[in-house]
Amino acid sequence: MHLDAYLVHIDYLTAEWRQLMSENGFDAAVVYAGENQTYYGDDQEPPFHAYGHFLRWVPENDCEHAVLTVNLVDKPVLLWYAPSDYWYLPSEAPEFCNESFMVQTFADLSELQRTLRVFLRSQANVAHIGKPSSSGEQIRQTESNQKLVRQLDYRRAFKTEFELRCTEDATNRGVSGHHAAARAFANGESEYQIHLAFLHASSQHEAELPYPSIVAMNTHAATLHYQKYDRKPASEIYSLLIDAGAKAHCYHSDITRTYAAKGNDEFAGLIGDVDQAQQATIEEIAVGKSYLDLHEVVNQKIAEILTNHQFLNCSASAAYESELVDAFFPHGLGHLLGLQTHDVGGRIVGENGHEVPPHNRYESLRLMRVIEANMVFTIEPGIYFIPSLLAKWQGHPDVNWGKVDQFMKYGGVRVEDNVFVSPAGPINLTRRAFSAVSAGV
Ligand code: GLY
Ligand code: MN
Ligand code: MN
Repeated sequence: MHLDAYLVHIDYLTAEWRQLMSENGFDAAVVYAGENQTYYGDDQEPPFHAYGHFLRWVPENDCEHAVLTVNLVDKPVLLWYAPSDYWYLPSEAPEFCNESFMVQTFADLSELQRTLRVFLRSQANVAHIGKPSSSGEQIRQTESNQKLVRQLDYRRAFKTEFELRCTEDATNRGVSGHHAAARAFANGESEYQIHLAFLHASSQHEAELPYPSIVAMNTHAATLHYQKYDRKPASEIYSLLIDAGAKAHCYHSDITRTYAAKGNDEFAGLIGDVDQAQQATIEEIAVGKSYLDLHEVVNQKIAEILTNHQFLNCSASAAYESELVDAFFPHGLGHLLGLQTHDVGGRIVGENGHEVPPHNRYESLRLMRVIEANMVFTIEPGIYFIPSLLAKWQGHPDVNWGKVDQFMKYGGVRVEDNVFVSPAGPINLTRRAFSAVSAGV
């Protein structure tokens, strides 16, 4: 825990929230950590993911039912729920909260809710951020409350020093996992074993992962969020695409590497070209540029790589214009990264919380904002050989089908790094972590 940076972070948040609350006519805000759901007819639950706006104040995921109240004058109050339970071990309120908040711990949820009601009655106009526990207050979100949430979503993109350090920790952890995964792949291990190697080296168990690791060999790499883990390696191995990240103090990393089984074949060349295009794109990142423009430029770079490797019979610009290139690169260039892997606010284009609809052509592009200092986002171009998308171009003369068929067995390539936009320019957190590990730092 970076305590000094955390205390500064809380001062920053307090000022930010008070300003937005005042502008929207609120005297106070209540932020709910959230509650988990049980499976039908059961007392078992999926892993709990607390609400991002709560975690931004209290980065501790084991916080079900906790509530933070913030008003314009007092120290924020953290209502923490720690039942006396013999089924699950409850967590105490994190020690790092003691300096910034008035912490009250409750063993009884209805007591916590009674205290919250007293607070709500003492304030004239309260914003509700997140959802109360199902047994608590019924709330109706007004239009100004919804606007405030969108404005907070927008602000999440700008990281404080504390958030940057947590993201660096998450990246370092993820990179340790990737090193072990690469070794396991080189040793001929299966998707399942590579997955376990990643977990072990990044010191995470499955429920702690920021997202389910994608460990995809051969044609599996053509399924963008491939979720199965084959227990045995295929008889012939051509490729590995591993998209796996880690968390640190609730902040996520999101990292992809692709490997060719035979280190020097044309597929290895294709990985090298995507890698180069990715790094060149990161160098082009600058405050004031539009992320959508970067996506467009990458789309054109992908078209050039496809023509250079003779996957296409047409020019790169023709493949871009006809949208043929989109069949090989069907996802967005990247997304905001933070307390969620696909963090909120990527299509909110301004301080007032205005949200734009998905792009007509690039529907899955999650980030359509102008690049600004202190953002953290991913850059993750790819080239895939996806049968269902290529089927839509079946027989089209602009595709060199013989060559494409030869590459189906590799599935695809993605290279994904996490980038911090410092006021002086982009910093590639992922490459920095990889270099530190190779240098033995
Ligand atoms: N790991 C999911 C993504 O890259 O967006
Ligand atoms: Mn990503
Ligand atoms: Mn990813």
